[in-house]
Amino acid sequence: MNKDQVFKKKEDLIPDFNFKKEVAEVFDDMLNRSVPFYQETQRMIGEITADFAVEETNIYDLGCSTGTTFIALDKLVPDNINFIGIDYSRDMLDKAQDKMKKHNISKKYKFICMDLNTELPIANASVVIMNLTLQFIRPLWRKRVVESIARGMNERGCLILIEKVLSIDSTLNRMFIKYYYNFKRRQGYDEMEIAQKREALENVLIPYRPEENRTLLLESGFKECDTFFKWYNFCGMLAIK
Ligand SMILES: C[S@@+](CC[C@H](N)C(=O)[O-])C[C@H]1O[C@@H](n2cnc3c(N)ncnc32)[C@H](O)[C@@H]1O
Repeated sequence: MNKDQVFKKKEDLIPDFNFKKEVAEVFDDMLNRSVPFYQETQRMIGEITADFAVEETNIYDLGCSTGTTFIALDKLVPDNINFIGIDYSRDMLDKAQDKMKKHNISKKYKFICMDLNTELPIANASVVIMNLTLQFIRPLWRKRVVESIARGMNERGCLILIEKVLSIDSTLNRMFIKYYYNFKRRQGYDEMEIAQKREALENVLIPYRPEENRTLLLESGFKECDTFFKWYNFCGMLAIK
């Protein structure tokens, strides 16, 4: 796995964070070292998906990046299921294609390079996964995105949504962010890397509060919703149509 050193060098002007080649090359390491319990949440996504996956339906991963989730799901769901990954980064999808081939994925799969801010081609879905992706969709478009997921989903299908979140209370919020940066230090990131990435993500990653995400899900066509994972400012929610 290539080591993430994207923010190691001091820059005078930090450009907005993007998901192009330089990031795609090191993205698996970046996720493993920047997302608390990344491996465990992948395992949880697998466990939940195995219970909701229905034969002859589609499983979508929106913002699928390098395809890690499909690789984890391959052995957990019925054979006649299709995997459909959507991402607007061609560099991420090239990596995903390589990884799927390397892992000899047994399911039918396809990757679609498109912006999730446009009309989504979702149909016959039993499971839709958005792991750390909705936070990058402009708030203006979020309801439309979640509504179109619900529309394309079969009855009793589920959306697995993991997001970075804000706390209602500003003191708790500051504490949670401090604990998160402590986590990044423990993963080997230095102060410069942490500060430069924080600046790059400002205005690009826009977190909601868990209550706001819950309302968004329930007002967009999902009947039930509960939290299945929470670690300071990270939150996983499961919504059922
Ligand atoms: C944090 S990564 C997701 C990680 C991945 N789901 C996983 O579990 O490993 C966010 C992904 O969403 C994609 N993305 C962000 N905004 C997008 C948009 N508007 N349309 C399509 N993809 C988008 C990025 O290219 C990136 O690959």
